Amino acid sequence: MDLQLSGKVALVLASSKGLGKASAMALAAEGANVVIGARDKEELEKTAAEIYTKTKSKIIAIQVDVSKINEVEKFVQQAADEFGKIDILVNNAGGPPFGKFESFDDAAWQSAFELTLLSTIRFCRLAVPHMRKTGSGRIINITSLSVKTYLENSVLSTSIRMGVVGMAKMLSNELGVDNITVNNIAPGMILTNRMKETMFKNMPAGKSEKDVLNDRAKDIPLKRIGRPEELGALVAFLASPLAGYITGTTIQIDGGAVKSPW
Ligand SMILES: NC(=O)c1ccc[n+]([C@@H]2O[C@H](COP(=O)([O-])OP(=O)(O)OC[C@H]3O[C@@H](n4cnc5c(N)ncnc54)[C@H](OP(=O)(O)O)[C@@H]3O)[C@@H](O)[C@H]2O)c1
Repeated sequence: MDLQLSGKVALVLASSKGLGKASAMALAAEGANVVIGARDKEELEKTAAEIYTKTKSKIIAIQVDVSKINEVEKFVQQAADEFGKIDILVNNAGGPPFGKFESFDDAAWQSAFELTLLSTIRFCRLAVPHMRKTGSGRIINITSLSVKTYLENSVLSTSIRMGVVGMAKMLSNELGVDNITVNNIAPGMILTNRMKETMFKNMPAGKSEKDVLNDRAKDIPLKRIGRPEELGALVAFLASPLAGYITGTTIQIDGGAVKSPW
């Protein structure tokens, strides 16, 4: 299936590693020009080189902390100047810290808000005028399965990501007339480095990494943890003209982990 992404311009945030990188790779593999961003410049440039080597699509790496307004503005401006348009925006960021409600003070809530919700608001606000000009657009927000089901110790992530889901619903209504779709992806367990670091941090004695992975996967109907490229494929599809009638929704990618039928 040709996803008709050749020549499209995609901005993918938090994309030197993990889910963002897999999304950028999938879009580039389909022929999109991709602008990637993260804080660590060296890592980001290594990723840009890797994506270019594998896909031969045009990749630009721009250092950005998505929680800083001046860097966000510079990122969008530079991307638009380079390519003359923006077709696709993939919002993503590192996750807020895990913990229970009573362990977080105002400062923790404020920085989770800035990292996860305010960054998404700002990128949408800056990218939408460019999408309007071309008569179409795709906004995809990477959230978490915690917006669909209870996830222990994730009060910051869950609360703030619910805001992303709410904002996306409002935006999808307001931007439908401009042929701009807005959707969220809710990943369950996907084996990125961040995930590996968390899972293998306190290895139980006598257990191998494979045992830990099998334990974590036992309640998942597909009996395995997801692969980043599987999420990348979903991003590429949602970003494509073929997904033109999908908007205002949150799609889980979780191997069936959420047991609710709706
Ligand atoms: N993997 C999963 O199973 C899973 C499940 C549910 C939800 N999620 C959520 O999905 C998101 C991505 O997770 P991941 O597993 O892909 O993590 P990851 O492998 O640790 O990658 C995180 C990426 O985000 C970048 N980043 C972090 N903070 C940033 C910031 N302030 N500004 C710009 N870039 C930033 C990192 O680069 P720098 O550090 O250099 O900036 C890196 O490229 C997180 O919000 C996570 O909570 C993941």
